[in-house]
Amino acid sequence: MVDAGRQRTSAHRPESDAELREFRRQTLPLYNENALKLGVFGMNCSGGMAISTAESTLRIEWDHQLELAQLADRLGLEAYIPIARWKGAGGKINYLGENFEPMTFAAAIAASTKEIMTFATVHAPVVSPIAAAKMITTIDHISGGRAGLNVVMGWLTREFDMFGLTQRDHQARYAFGSEWLEIVDRLWNETAEFDFAGEHFTLKNAESAPKPIQPRPVVLNAGSSPTGAEWAARHADFNFASYASPEAGTKYVADIKRLAREKYERDIGVLTYAFVICRDTEAEARRDLERVVEMADVEGAANWMSALGLQSASFSEDTLKGEFARYFVAGGGAARVVGTPEQVAAQLQEMSGTGLDGVMLGFLNYKEELADFGEKVMPLLREAGLRK
Ligand SMILES: Cc1cc2nc3c(=O)[nH]c(=O)nc-3n(C[C@H](O)[C@H](O)[C@H](O)COP(=O)(O)O)c2cc1C
Repeated sequence: MVDAGRQRTSAHRPESDAELREFRRQTLPLYNENALKLGVFGMNCSGGMAISTAESTLRIEWDHQLELAQLADRLGLEAYIPIARWKGAGGKINYLGENFEPMTFAAAIAASTKEIMTFATVHAPVVSPIAAAKMITTIDHISGGRAGLNVVMGWLTREFDMFGLTQRDHQARYAFGSEWLEIVDRLWNETAEFDFAGEHFTLKNAESAPKPIQPRPVVLNAGSSPTGAEWAARHADFNFASYASPEAGTKYVADIKRLAREKYERDIGVLTYAFVICRDTEAEARRDLERVVEMADVEGAANWMSALGLQSASFSEDTLKGEFARYFVAGGGAARVVGTPEQVAAQLQEMSGTGLDGVMLGFLNYKEELADFGEKVMPLLREAGLRK
């Protein structure tokens, strides 16, 4: 058993955004001084970020997962973000088909780490906001105040079918999400019971105690469509975004930060994700990237891309063609960061230059390659002034 890290108790609940921000700056890794925050993403589902039959050491087994989380914590990374998935993509490897449930996963990781922020990814339509508020509160207490909620609206119809739920149209998903998060926020904050009469929820005498340790556990949202980005600007503390190029990223980051500030008078951070292949030589790194691509699970990738194109608005139909489609299997839409430690550090520096706050990393062999990243790339990021 590992002691949870410092208790991040607030003496009183902040009354303004500025006060909340200051509390977070003093207590939470994602608000620390590092210009480029780092985390691990996608480790709790088979295949991780590679829709490929290329061999990988990633295992959806608890001992392996625990070692990986504790390694990320020891390396001083800021965030640990599992995927919410209920069903795989079919094809040869049934990509993401073996998956650990993120709330229970985050709770166990919270108890076994000291400093890293432990996020749970939640599909708003499949978990009651009352249950979700309580689960995140529980994780916040287990972790001594370093829980995060990555709330996504869900997009995979195959999963909704499992639950007997009907997929809402894209706009309506976010309207539902607004009510859902409003309830969560009220349960985290209000001490008196309240009734709620919305379009989607009717609650009587709702209450939740204890309150989370954080004034508001950090909320992420992974929508990248215009509606998703606007929703994040309005409600989330961080947007977890995907975009096609550094140029597109620079504009995306500036736009969403401006929107949050000007329209909603709040600040939002932006995180993105990267599939990292770091090897001692560039030739080895390129060879390993090509191996992932050549050994693509073509059927699984086609299922995945067609679902993404039809059921999510994060990627347009056009982007899911040609060269993008061929390399999509290496990262699943993430930026690809490939090369020697120096090249990887330089590419991360370039990503940081788009104005984003952090990059969540995925690897083919998470455990071994994260250790290698810690040893060879992190010192270079420190030298570049991106991290302390
Ligand atoms: C970095 C990132 C992480 C995501 N994580 C999840 C996830 O764990 N579960 C999920 O169902 N969808 C996840 N998504 C997918 C989005 O929820 C999905 O694309 C959704 O449709 C986003 O909304 P949008 O259509 O408004 O962009 C993720 C997307 C990104 C970019």
